[in-house]
Amino acid sequence: MNTLLLSALDAKTPSIAAEIIKNGELVAIPTETVYGLGANGLDPEAVAKIFKAKGRPQDNPLILHIAEAADMEKYCHSIPECAYKLAEAFWPGPLTLVMPAKKIVPNCTTAGLPTVAIRCPDNAVTREIIRLSGVPIAAPSANISGKPSTTTAQHVLHDHDGRIAAVVDGGPCRVGVESTILDLSDEKPRLLRPGGITEAQLQAIVGDIILDKAITASVEKDEVVKAPGMKYRHYAPDCQVLIVDGDLPAAVSYVKAHFAPGNRVLCFEEELEAFKGFAPLAYGKNADRDTLLAGLFAALRELDDPSIGTVFARCPDGSGKAVAVQNRLGKAAGFTRVHPRQKHFIVGITGGTGCGKTTALEAIRLCSGMVIDCDAEYHRLLESDTKMLSAIEDRFPGVVVDGKLQRKELGKRVFAQEAELAALNAITHPRVKEAVLDMLPSTPSLVAIDAIGLFEGGLADLCDITVAITAPEEDRIQRLIRREGISREYAAARIAAQRSNEEFSKMCDYTLENDGTYEDFQRKCLAFFSRPDIMKEKP
Ligand code: TXA
Ligand code: MG
Repeated sequence: MNTLLLSALDAKTPSIAAEIIKNGELVAIPTETVYGLGANGLDPEAVAKIFKAKGRPQDNPLILHIAEAADMEKYCHSIPECAYKLAEAFWPGPLTLVMPAKKIVPNCTTAGLPTVAIRCPDNAVTREIIRLSGVPIAAPSANISGKPSTTTAQHVLHDHDGRIAAVVDGGPCRVGVESTILDLSDEKPRLLRPGGITEAQLQAIVGDIILDKAITASVEKDEVVKAPGMKYRHYAPDCQVLIVDGDLPAAVSYVKAHFAPGNRVLCFEEELEAFKGFAPLAYGKNADRDTLLAGLFAALRELDDPSIGTVFARCPDGSGKAVAVQNRLGKAAGFTRVHPRQKHFIVGITGGTGCGKTTALEAIRLCSGMVIDCDAEYHRLLESDTKMLSAIEDRFPGVVVDGKLQRKELGKRVFAQEAELAALNAITHPRVKEAVLDMLPSTPSLVAIDAIGLFEGGLADLCDITVAITAPEEDRIQRLIRREGISREYAAARIAAQRSNEEFSKMCDYTLENDGTYEDFQRKCLAFFSRPDIMKEKP
């Protein structure tokens, strides 16, 4: 097949392209986000050609592109009021809305889902093509599946020359990353994919929105996700991408220590000078996030080269448009990242059972931190640490038999005997502290020390900051009942036997209260642990 290259500037282009669409063939179309690989979205045979050309998994649905907002009523039902408000505010533009699909939309377009994704793109020529073809155009990003998206007509030709009917060349895409996807088919709007329209812009119109888990982390292969596309490895050049966080001096020393011939650095324009000698490629200015979005895919394509070993990539921090870069670059890197530091940053985490410490620790891991579970470490030492066991035996003769600690016996000796318990702690606490120090990684890192007795054991002295995790008592009771299958009375008694939320809060530098949904708390923790001011200094 000879692929026609049509110019968007040519007045005849819309009618030629529309004719091809009507004939059931593929046309790559320019949009403000990325180039799409378009076909008649109501024609299963035409849609099948998209999947074939891209090598796209069949369970990954397509976005229907419409020429004007009013057309959403042709393909969706139960359209909520806020969809009209969002369309008014952002269409034509880089926002896709997911809503219940009408029967007219074929299964191959929705991948069998009851919903359909709809978008009105901000490109006059493309909207004219849609209008003239008289059908909605189904169009995924025009790249071969798994590869970086296409932001120029040349990218499309690189992937599909000779295999599709036509490409409409509308120049480089203005936004540069795919549309923001908001699912309106549930009770609360849910952000499925970040893009050029930010969370804050959406919130201003629809209020609270839920952030889908797939945005910030990799998804297990069999996990059910709302946007099926989010579970695949994506945007990935043919080499290893590793995100290097941290401030510039720390990142430069990390790259210096790990760089091998043939490696590359993907960085901000402001950092080109600092990475001189390490084959740097800039994708935009950190000070102007729009340029990062616009340049990311072209840069990833340039690095799509099997002869390159590792690409050390710099990723913008913060919120707003940076989130779309964090998501795309994160996926390109399979969410592998390092956070080089000049020295360890140690966070002490404490709080009662059922408050959500696990969620906070998960967030630390997502911020590439390491977690040391001191209670587990304490139990391990009691099992096997000969040095500690012999000190215990010296002070409490008879409690260690054949190198094994008789826990019940020791328990009896210290139970309700303050002085005895203090003597035991005087042996175990320093040993746990020593063990924690031994576990610290050899390169400076973010480390969380998780200990119920953070302060009693003197572990807090090792910490740069301490954080109390608290939650309303009723939520904790419910969580314990669910998690451990215990009775309400027993759950309440366990909570009552511990320090109160207020006591934990008072002892710590910061408090994170888990008083909403799981997602709310996860988001709160991620925002907290990625705050540079917190990660630098003690209040
Ligand atoms: O900016 C864009 O959105 C570009 C241009 C061409 O418009 N298109 C694009 O399409 O990015 P694609 O296929 O690369 O990504 C569409 C994403 C996929 O992650 C897919 O799983 C999700 O949208 N999606 C489509 N229909 C859905 C639905 N009914 N429910 C949830 N997610 C859906
Ligand atoms: Mg895509």
